[in-house]
Formats: sequence, C-alpha cells, structure tokens
Amino acid sequence: MHHLSLRGRVLALFSLIMLAAIVGAVLLLISNAREAVRAETAASQELAKKLAIAAVGALARTGRPDTILSDLPVQLQHPRHVRIAILNLRNEPTTKALLEPAEEADAVTPAPAWFDALIRPPVEITRVPIALDGATMGYVVIATEPSDEIAEVWQDFRALLFLMGAASLILGLAVYWALGRSLRPLATIAHGLEQLQSGNYGVRLPEIAVPDLARTGRRFNDLAATLEATIREKEALSQQLVTVQDTERKNIALELHDEFGPCLFGIKVDATFIESEAGKLDGETGPALAERARAILEIVDHMQQSNRALLSRLRPMALGHVGMPQLLEDLVKGFRMRNADVQWRLRVPDDLESCGETADLTIYRMVQECLTNAARHADASEIDVTLQTVPPSAANGRNGVAPMDAVRVLVADNGRGFDPATEFGFGLSGMGQRVKALGGAFSIRPRPEGGTVVSILVPVEREGRAAATTADPAELKGRAHD
Ligand SMILES: Nc1ncnc2c1ncn2[C@@H]1O[C@H](COP(=O)(O)OP(=O)(O)OP(=O)(O)O)[C@@H](O)[C@H]1O
Ligand SMILES: [Mg+2]
Repeated sequence: MHHLSLRGRVLALFSLIMLAAIVGAVLLLISNAREAVRAETAASQELAKKLAIAAVGALARTGRPDTILSDLPVQLQHPRHVRIAILNLRNEPTTKALLEPAEEADAVTPAPAWFDALIRPPVEITRVPIALDGATMGYVVIATEPSDEIAEVWQDFRALLFLMGAASLILGLAVYWALGRSLRPLATIAHGLEQLQSGNYGVRLPEIAVPDLARTGRRFNDLAATLEATIREKEALSQQLVTVQDTERKNIALELHDEFGPCLFGIKVDATFIESEAGKLDGETGPALAERARAILEIVDHMQQSNRALLSRLRPMALGHVGMPQLLEDLVKGFRMRNADVQWRLRVPDDLESCGETADLTIYRMVQECLTNAARHADASEIDVTLQTVPPSAANGRNGVAPMDAVRVLVADNGRGFDPATEFGFGLSGMGQRVKALGGAFSIRPRPEGGTVVSILVPVEREGRAAATTADPAELKGRAHD
C-alpha cells in the first residue's frame, strides 16, 4: 500500500469497504432466502397434503377401487413448489411421470447450480395413504420442489447485486474524480518547489481553487518572493564585496605606487649621493660611509622589487591601460619565459577589448591562477588559453534574471589530469567564490583525452552597451543588482 498514491489509497479503502458491504449483504440475503424458501415450500407441501387428503376422500366416497389410482391424478389439485407421485403398494409410480409443479405464467430463468446449492433446503417427503374401506391401495407422495422459488430469489439477488455494483462503481468514480480535482493543486505546488530548487526564484503559483490548499499556495508565493528578494540581495552583496575588494586593492596599489615609489626613489638618490661624496673623504670615515650607503642602496633595491611584486599582485598595472588581448599576452609571455619547454597558446577574440573593470580583473586573475596551477601541478607540455564571448542565452541567465553577455575562459592542459576528489586549495576555491559572486559559473574536470580543462563563465557588463540596454526593462531587471 506504501507505493500507492493518496488517490489510490482512498480508492482501495473505499473498494474494500464496498466489497465488505456487498459480501455482508449477500450473506444476509442468502441466509434469509434459505429460511424463506424452506417456509414457503413447507406451506405448499402442507396445502398439497390437505388437497390430496380431500381428493382421496372424495374418490373413496364413489367407492370404485379399480379406477381410484388412475382417476386420482385428474382429481388432484396441484399447488406450487411440490412434486406429487402416486405409488401403488409396490412403490411403483402409477403415472408415467411424476406430476410436475404447476407451471407459472411468468416462468423465470433457473438459478445457477451453485446458487441453488446455497439456498435449497433438504427435500421433505410426506405420504398420504390412499385408503378405501379401510384397505390401503397406495400412496400419494408429496415432495418439496423449490426450484421456482429459488429462481425468483436468484432474480432478486441478481438485480440487487447489479444495483450495488453499479452504485459502488459510480461512487468510486466520483470519489476518484473529486480526489483528483482536489489534489491537482499539490502537483502544482510540487512543480513550483522544483522550480525554486532549480533556481527559478521568479516562479509564482496561480490562485488555488481548493480552499484547504489555497492558503498553502499563497504562503508558497510569499515564500518565493522573500527567497527571491533575499537571493537578489545576497547576489548584490557578493558582487559588491568583490567590487569593494577590487577598489580597496586598487587604492592600496595606487598608494604604494605613488607614495612608496617616490620615497624609495628619493632614498636611492640620496644614498647614491652619499656614496659618491663619501668616496671623496680621506681616512677611515669615507670608505665606511660608502659601505653603509651601498647597504642602504641594496635594501632600497630589495624594497623596490617587493613593492613591484606587491603591486602586480594587488593589481596588474596595465589593467585599464591596455586591452584584454595585450594584457593576457603579457601574462602568458611571463609564463613562457619561465617555462620555455611548455607550448603556451592564447586565443582571444579581437573584438574583446574590455569587459568592464571587475570582469577584466576577474578574467585576468582566473587565467593567472589557472596558468600557475597548470605550471605547478599538471606537468603538461601544452597549455591552451581560450576566451570566447557568449551571447545572452537562457543558459547563462540564472534565477529568472534576464540573460547577459558573458565571457567563457577555457584553460586546458595535456598534463596528468585533475582528480575530481582533490580538495580545492586557496586558488580554486577563491576562483569559485569570485565567479559565483559575479553570477558566473566555474568548473574544473579531467579531459577525456587526458589533461585538465578549467571552464569559467564570467558575466560581463559592457560599458559600451549599457546605455543602449537601459531602455529595455527586461535587461534592466537583469542588471537590477548592479
Ligand atoms: N591543471 C591541473 N592539473 C592537475 N592538477 C591540478 C590542476 N590544477 C589544480 N590541480 C590540483 O588541484 C589542487 C588545488 O588547486 P589550488 O589552485 O586550489 O591549490 P594549490 O594550487 O595547490 O595552492 P594555491 O592555493 O597556492 O593555489 C592542486 O593542489 C592540484 O593537486
Ligand atoms: Mg593554485
């Protein structure tokens, strides 16, 4: 019963109850009918007996012993539900056949054997002696024969059974239909929940006509609305977080560049001056001073190097000054220099100049991390970076938000391959978080032909197109969390 739907269960229960009712009714009917048939045939037999006694008496009065046995059948009145035979003293029938019960005008079809067997009472036989002047000449034998009566009961029984069956069927169908109608909203609600689960937070249910479920439907809609708002807010926050982080880094980079750079340069100039002036001094002090000045210069060199490394880690200096193809080409060039035995390939569409600051930086960081990983972990001889522009489509429009332009970054290597069971380090998890915050997608998998492929989808807000799309409300909705 567990695998049955609610509808099936109710229907099964209903059928069971109806079946029990029908079986009960049949049992009651049969036991009543058996008693009624017995009483009816007994009464008929009693009547037949009285009639036989009267007929025998009448014939006896005429006093013709030779014809009494052959005249008797003509004189005998024959009620229903009995068979009558006239036997001589040797128990031989004197008529060719037993006398059959009176035929009824509306003779009914006989009951089937099993029904007959259930109802038929045991045959009762009585004998009426045929006596003339004190001498017994034979017997009128009267046996019960309830076939007619049973046939009538059978007819009633059949009609009742048919009625009950038809009523159950109609009731069952009605219950099935009504249940289906009342439960249909549940399927709607389930469908709505599936939509929510798959990320379509814009889903709303139509007003439900069944009062008990209408409340659930309205709550569902409220819940979906709340969820939608919360998710939008979260998306906006995550994106804001990325933007704020980028801006902060940019400011720190600027500070380092504009403050520390000139200061270090100033120290360097002064130390160089001290070094050269110290060379002109006589005695011990001069060389010692020059020595200290050179030490300072070394420290400054080191600081300048660290500063530059820090700067480029915080934010590639060229970002915003050169286009994406150039920026990535420079990045790959650095890797190519450090790993000459690897074939590095880069394909960037020509028209992909800039995708907006956040997206540019994201793409840059992703490629940087992927190349670092490939160089560090893959042990590959070929590493390919491919950028593709992805037009707006249902595939990258998430959560009911209008689809937007996106850039797909594919970094493939032919190395040892990525084991999906590997735990993400800072690199991969940071990449995933950043892409997710921007509403994109990220995956890393082994390639069937060997090696690893990282696929990243970065949603793009192109400045050039922003003005043109402002008028489109659907687009505006998509950009609502800007
Ligand atoms: N291209 C690749 N080929 C094979 N394995 C890879 C590749 N990229 C990543 N991996 C595996 O995934 C793991 C996690 O990478 P992830 O970049 O998150 O961390 P990491 O590179 O080890 O350290 P970091 O936090 O400095 O990036 C790696 O340690 C490596 O085992
Ligand atoms: Mg890494």
